[in-house]
Amino acid sequence: MEPFSYIDDQLYAEGVSVASLAEAVGTPFYVYSRGTIEAQWRAYDEAFAGRDHLVCYAVKANSNLAVLNILAKLGSGFDIVSEGELERVLRAGGDASRVVYSGVGKTAREIKRALEAGIACFNVESEEELDRINGIAGECGRVAPVSLRVNPDVDPNTHPYISTGLKESKFGIPMGQAAGLYEHATTLPHVNAVGVACHIGSQLTEIDPYLEALDRVLELVGELMDGGIELQSLDLGGGLGVSYYDEDPPEPDDLVMALMERMQDMGSRYQQLRFIVEPGRSIIGNAGLLITQVQYVKHTEARNFMVVDAAMNDLLRPAVYDAWHEIVPVVQTDVSDGNIYDVVGPVCESGDFLGRQRELSAVSGDLLAVLSVGAYGASMSSNYNTRPRVPEIMVSGDHYHVVRRREKIDDLVALESLCPD
Ligand code: LLP
Repeated sequence: MEPFSYIDDQLYAEGVSVASLAEAVGTPFYVYSRGTIEAQWRAYDEAFAGRDHLVCYAVKANSNLAVLNILAKLGSGFDIVSEGELERVLRAGGDASRVVYSGVGKTAREIKRALEAGIACFNVESEEELDRINGIAGECGRVAPVSLRVNPDVDPNTHPYISTGLKESKFGIPMGQAAGLYEHATTLPHVNAVGVACHIGSQLTEIDPYLEALDRVLELVGELMDGGIELQSLDLGGGLGVSYYDEDPPEPDDLVMALMERMQDMGSRYQQLRFIVEPGRSIIGNAGLLITQVQYVKHTEARNFMVVDAAMNDLLRPAVYDAWHEIVPVVQTDVSDGNIYDVVGPVCESGDFLGRQRELSAVSGDLLAVLSVGAYGASMSSNYNTRPRVPEIMVSGDHYHVVRRREKIDDLVALESLCPD
């Protein structure tokens, strides 16, 4: 099933009319297609066929409890980067033993909590972090499972802010230091080096950078085996892109099959490795819309503006990455005023736009849908300009459920207090 389609000129999310949702919950709001989320996760899972594997959804892409719960029910693992994300996974019914913990700056408290919860693996990004984990595990009377996250120095050909596997990046352990650090790990009594991990970037639209990274990581695994260090898992991270404009990224199963083929080619010594991936965007990116209502249409000498009720605080990607998201009317019409519009929000910044130079026709009161915002939409939203965060709706067939209610001003100020006189 298409997640979003027009029936009689009306936009539908699965079997639910978007206009009826707007009527029910007001605007702006996010709406997600459960069927699409499940299908994308299964596409990864099924492509691994008989191989030992774990699909760890990257929680940062969209951390709504309902999303995590839907994936937990499918048997998903989770890639987390904070204590907060761990708590979300646990509250959503996720299994700690399927959690991998990434990130360059894990605090002592976060490490302790993750150890107590019994996560599958810490993806370690520095020698100091390894030593810290060893120390904390010792205090707790445990042995921490770790993978070293290596930096394979591969160019993923994506936006510089979301490239993570280049040698200039803050992420991972340089390849040249990795073997030495594995040796060091063997001397630490409270860590067990179970695997190797890497993540080269996000919104990748080609398979080649993955293959290059895989080759480099396998070379390291082979070198370690020769030295008597046997690893059990290989985590290649996330990063597969989605189509926002005219990109044509591979499908999850194409990627997985290409990776498995390369593993096969590299020989039988690697066949026992459990393969882990950490997809975020490719699971939920195209499963979400942001629905917004036109407030004003404004014409100036230089530009035409559609001022809408969603803003950069609701969807930050255009402002931060100059990201392009398609914007379509919720009710299609043949009428066109022939103008090109900048679709802008009410926030007091010129960077507050959802789309620029779009051919659109709408008048005050009309609804617009911003496409492909399931990933890094709601999860990157803020209260800037004291704007309450918008509701999130999950649609499944012809049912819908409010999975996050609209914030109230009381929610926004609840943690604040006046200074005493
Ligand atoms: N694993 C690690 C270690 C990561 O750092 C990331 C994303 C992922 C997995 C998931 O990557 P994905 O499959 O979603 O590409 N806010 C940016 C994206 C930042 C990605 C950060 N790391 C955006 O809106 O494009």
